[in-house]
Amino acid sequence: MLQEKKIILGITGGIAAYKSAFLISQLKKLGADIWVVMTKAATSFITPLTLQTLSKNKVYIDLFEDSSSFIPKHISLNENTDLILIAPATANTISKISQGIADNLLTTLVLSSKTQKVLAPTMNENMYNNPIFQENMEKLKKMGYLFIEPEYGRLACNKEGKGRMANIDKIIEEVKQVLINDNLPLKNRKILITAGATREPIDIIRYISNRSSGKMGYALAKEAKRLGGEVTLISGPTFLSSLEGVAMIKVDTALKMKEAVTREYNDKDIIIFSAAVCDFRPKKVYKGKIKKREENLSLELIENPDILRELGSEKKGKFLVGFAAEDSDNIKSAIIKLREKNLDLIVFNNITEVGAGFEVDTNKIKIITKDETIKEFPLLTKQEVAQNIFKEIIKNLPSAN
Ligand SMILES: Cc1cc2nc3c(=O)[nH]c(=O)nc-3n(C[C@H](O)[C@H](O)[C@H](O)COP(=O)(O)O)c2cc1C
Repeated sequence: MLQEKKIILGITGGIAAYKSAFLISQLKKLGADIWVVMTKAATSFITPLTLQTLSKNKVYIDLFEDSSSFIPKHISLNENTDLILIAPATANTISKISQGIADNLLTTLVLSSKTQKVLAPTMNENMYNNPIFQENMEKLKKMGYLFIEPEYGRLACNKEGKGRMANIDKIIEEVKQVLINDNLPLKNRKILITAGATREPIDIIRYISNRSSGKMGYALAKEAKRLGGEVTLISGPTFLSSLEGVAMIKVDTALKMKEAVTREYNDKDIIIFSAAVCDFRPKKVYKGKIKKREENLSLELIENPDILRELGSEKKGKFLVGFAAEDSDNIKSAIIKLREKNLDLIVFNNITEVGAGFEVDTNKIKIITKDETIKEFPLLTKQEVAQNIFKEIIKNLPSAN
């Protein structure tokens, strides 16, 4: 099942480290190639010799250990890796990773790798519930790190609580789900998503923009990746972090967004335009900074290209999805946009509704498909909204009909 899958198994200094021996043995039975990287603390709980014997590969601990190769271990080990699994994952290691600390082989390897990471935290309940730890874990979750929740039970500190490492079967299931994605609905589909606002410069420091945060587009990219798609995200300036496993292209102006979309468009199957591209830009961009002056300043604005309309007119068999953010419940303009721009699906939202629209983590949408059927959804998180949008996309993809 896991034939030809290379897994780096990080083992850190928790009492559950003894369970890693069973984990390796199960993963080996499924055909995986296991490379163990231990922290120094982990060697107090289980011996490298045990893990080496079970994994049939050398066990790595020391970043600076003598090596005959000129390529550093954290780089060479990463090559062709399908998954980095850390089980058990201590509070210390998780927190270090969340801060970008690279002070041992395991944390250096994680920082220098783009591979999907799965972590199985285990610790004392107070440690687990500590807001510092929770914040660190949440930060990593937002970046696409997967966590296998610990279980409730008797802990090493002799107390009952939530903090036991998830059982081995559950960890194996998660590994299978990440690595065997043959059944995922977007496997072999190339998806292009645009997100965020564009910035149209007035002078060297000022610009025109809008309130789009990019959250919806990033949620869509994360969901597309989870469903097995090969995802490219073209993003306007945002405060959001890049997503693991998603190709990122950062742009600022509408013209640069158009340039990037045009370049990326040809080999994609599904294109989702969730970016709030500015409709207008200043005709003249002043050199330097416009100085304060007595009289009023007028800016002449010119229209930006309508990227979606241009692409819709020469569709080339792509599945096109647009967004219509309106200031009323009148869905008619969204239907007209769907028709005029030759879209397959449009997502409508009324930005004046509480919790629906810019800068928030929720949205309330209606999805209109090509046959003009309308599906209405309650107020949901943007991640849940993204799930519903993809359910509709998948239902309406040509091969699914
Ligand atoms: C007996 C014992 C059990 C421990 N179990 C855990 C644990 O389950 N989870 C955890 O986060 N830390 C645990 N610790 C503390 C870690 O070993 C300690 O924070 C260490 O610095 C972790 O280093 P590492 O993250 O580099 O492996 C334990 C310590 C001892 C002495």
